[in-house]
Amino acid sequence: MSTPNQPNQPARPAASAGSAAASLSQATIATPAEHDGDEPSRPLSRAERARARAREREESGIGPTGRPLREIPEPQPLERHGPAKVLAMCNQKGGVGKTTSTINLGAALAECGRRVLLVDFDPQGALSVGLGIQPHELDQTVYNVIMERSVNVEDVLRKTRVDGVDLLPSNIDLSAAEVQLVAEVGREHTLLRVLRPVMNDYDYVLVDCQPSLGLLTVNALTAADGVVIPLECEFFSLRGVALLIDTIEKVQERLNPKLDIVGILATMYDPRTLHSKEVMARVVEAFGDTVFDTVINRTVRFPETTVAGEPITTWAPKSAGAAAYRALAREVIAR
Ligand SMILES: Nc1ncnc2c1ncn2[C@@H]1O[C@H](COP(=O)(O)OP(=O)(O)O)[C@@H](O)[C@H]1O
Ligand SMILES: [Mg+2]
Repeated sequence: MSTPNQPNQPARPAASAGSAAASLSQATIATPAEHDGDEPSRPLSRAERARARAREREESGIGPTGRPLREIPEPQPLERHGPAKVLAMCNQKGGVGKTTSTINLGAALAECGRRVLLVDFDPQGALSVGLGIQPHELDQTVYNVIMERSVNVEDVLRKTRVDGVDLLPSNIDLSAAEVQLVAEVGREHTLLRVLRPVMNDYDYVLVDCQPSLGLLTVNALTAADGVVIPLECEFFSLRGVALLIDTIEKVQERLNPKLDIVGILATMYDPRTLHSKEVMARVVEAFGDTVFDTVINRTVRFPETTVAGEPITTWAPKSAGAAAYRALAREVIAR
């Protein structure tokens, strides 16, 4: 926003702030006699009001997206596995929850009896670290699989501590692939080609993309059946989404007609702030039913899991964060 003059400020935030202020002043002038029971006569704090609203919404069946919660069927057990559905976890903005969502959605899908392969497609190797693997100690990674014909995907992928979840790890070597791939024939189809031999072993392959729309990400989109877009509930996070969707449409037109946006996942949501709610309203207004009903709240439990090197479903199985990713897994299976 480049307009510094105050009168041109967006009307909505001002109005909401105004009405919040109005309700606060009303609460302040209430006298003890006006309260029934022995409730304290102080005005409710922001957090208390937010909790009360969240309770009201839950009782009325309205989710944090502001829409009625959809009925999601229980996932059915599978009689056999594969062929895998490939989902690219994609957003060119960093720090929006791509890696966290890849690990935890993967673990939650595995709890539903699905076989899952997680592909670390970011040279930072955060996905590998998040699963307790030290990327710099690896001899072979996804880089060797995509650049060297003699290296098979089966030789590089490995089991993780999480039952039913395997990992194709990466490290800083992958940063060279972006440049080296440019000269290859069929350069956009490289990941698709290397995944083909294991597609029947898995039900889901989740590709954790790096924060860019470069050739590696285009490879992920070309290999994918669908894209999941994690979107941080912050104002500026909406800015890059048009460019991302433009890229997805180009890949769909030119390289991969079956590509589809599976869903937009709102992350780092803080139910106590007006800002989070306003961003959520904008996201739902722009993307409608594509937005998952499941919303991931901001909580320190997620950074903790990175240190622990395991998903939240095993690190804090009873936490709200674990429950959220389980709900997301049910939505993903149903879509
Ligand atoms: N819901 C959340 N609440 C709080 N912190 C989170 C949440 N999701 C992720 N984080 C933290 O934010 C940082 C960025 O998340 P990450 O998943 O690595 O994003 P990306 O892969 O998009 O760069 C990490 O430190 C992670 O632990
Ligand atoms: Mg990441």
